[in-house]
Amino acid sequence: MNKEVVSLAKYLAASRVEFALSEMNQYLSKKYDERDLYTLLKPHFYDLDILCGTDYKCHRLVKRPLPVDDAIIGELEDSFKNQGLPSGIERLVESYIERSCGKNWHTGKTAELIRKNIVKQKEEYWKGRPRYPKIRTISYLLYHFPVYFCQFQYLLLDLFKNGLLTTKMSILDAGSGPGTITLSTIDFLRRLLDIYSKRNMDVKLNIRIDSIEKSGENIYCYNELTSLYLSNLLLENASITINEPVHSPIEIAKVPKDEDLIIFSYVLTEMSAAPSERADVVDRIASGSKNPTVIIIEPAELVNSKALRITQHALIKKGFNIFNPCTLIWGIGCSGDNCWSFEEPGNIQVPGFMKKIARTEDSYKYINTDMKFSSVILRKDGVTEHAYRAKGKFVRLVNLKRHIEKRINIVASVMSGNLGDEKTFVFKVCDATTSVPCYAVLPSYHINDGNKAILEAGYGDIVEIYGTLIRENKAFSSYNLLITRSTAIRPVDQT
Ligand SMILES: C[S@@+](CC[C@H](N)C(=O)[O-])C[C@H]1O[C@@H](n2cnc3c(N)ncnc32)[C@H](O)[C@@H]1O
Repeated sequence: MNKEVVSLAKYLAASRVEFALSEMNQYLSKKYDERDLYTLLKPHFYDLDILCGTDYKCHRLVKRPLPVDDAIIGELEDSFKNQGLPSGIERLVESYIERSCGKNWHTGKTAELIRKNIVKQKEEYWKGRPRYPKIRTISYLLYHFPVYFCQFQYLLLDLFKNGLLTTKMSILDAGSGPGTITLSTIDFLRRLLDIYSKRNMDVKLNIRIDSIEKSGENIYCYNELTSLYLSNLLLENASITINEPVHSPIEIAKVPKDEDLIIFSYVLTEMSAAPSERADVVDRIASGSKNPTVIIIEPAELVNSKALRITQHALIKKGFNIFNPCTLIWGIGCSGDNCWSFEEPGNIQVPGFMKKIARTEDSYKYINTDMKFSSVILRKDGVTEHAYRAKGKFVRLVNLKRHIEKRINIVASVMSGNLGDEKTFVFKVCDATTSVPCYAVLPSYHINDGNKAILEAGYGDIVEIYGTLIRENKAFSSYNLLITRSTAIRPVDQT
């Protein structure tokens, strides 16, 4: 019977832009209540390309980039200021912790046990051997989840600004843990739908979220958090289907089909495969999708961050291209060797539950608010965030040796926040021609209108630097590009 309902809905959706569920009874062999038809069809909205509302009217949805303009971006960016977990997510996580560990989870022996596990999880993580028994899912939620949830929205914002988020999207959360990326994505789309609705823009979304995860405890938590969150969310203009997680190591999971977005957030580092071989895992998972946007996020710390660039390079050899953060300014790619680069969008507000577990000696051990991560966004169609290519008047960074103690012009992407202090600003810069680290160094007493653009550049933004003095830093096997008051810096057109 379901089959008859689904195929009729398919037919109606193909022949009209809109139809009412009540109309279906004219053609069905059995009469249905509108509510029953709605429930029967709901799991099929994604494949049928329809969205039916609580008024039981169904609309045909067309896949197109989500509308974006400067005002919408401004409003979204404002909503990220003083970023923290949205109150609904905070309540959801805390009530999961309460259900798992009791109402007084933040006091006495239970709190001690959780704290011990937060510390242990950090140690295991750096040794590359994390485990996820139930208590570690709790410690993960308390310590890691908030920052990872918030920082992912910066990457979504990048995709949104560049037209890579669409009205119909299938999303794969690979190594989904307790649901960080899934929940963060839904929250991002909720914010966006709020903005559209305030502007009376009729934008409808059809989203399917799949996930793969090898830990049963994390799958349990994922199911609890995502289903409760979805059931409390009243989104008139969106159909969001979250499929049952695939319980398997990613390496051997069935290859998913037609994903638009594939996210590996803090999962590749947990694999025993060497960094270059992790590319095989990513490539295999992406092989069932036509042109997916693949996002890989790893810790900002030296070893894991450098490993990501090796994986990234191996993926380029397999036919992927970098959307961001790296721009091949001279049209040639780097080797991915010796590249330590990460983004630091700032701190999040301390969530209430984190404050509770940190009410003890050494409270700093339990507070984690610093957004700091290494990431890459990959495509297969050659689309890049910055299409800029350098022309003759600049020296390539690979040739700096010949220009020591000379003033030259260079063009490079800014690949870090300030690595120095308020007296001396230091930014990693890269033009993809060398694996020798290069840093733009700007003493604060040299800052003026002509060179301050480097202070305002975002991560991955490109700047032309005219008249920088080249110094070799032998102790660190690197080059410093000294910016003085006579150096001019110009941000390049971001297209
Ligand atoms: C650090 S957590 C990250 C969770 C989530 N993606 C996030 O960003 O918060 C890593 C997760 O990946 C899972 N994982 C690690 N290796 C895996 C593998 N080979 N296959 C499937 N899941 C894996 C772990 O069980 C854990 O849930």
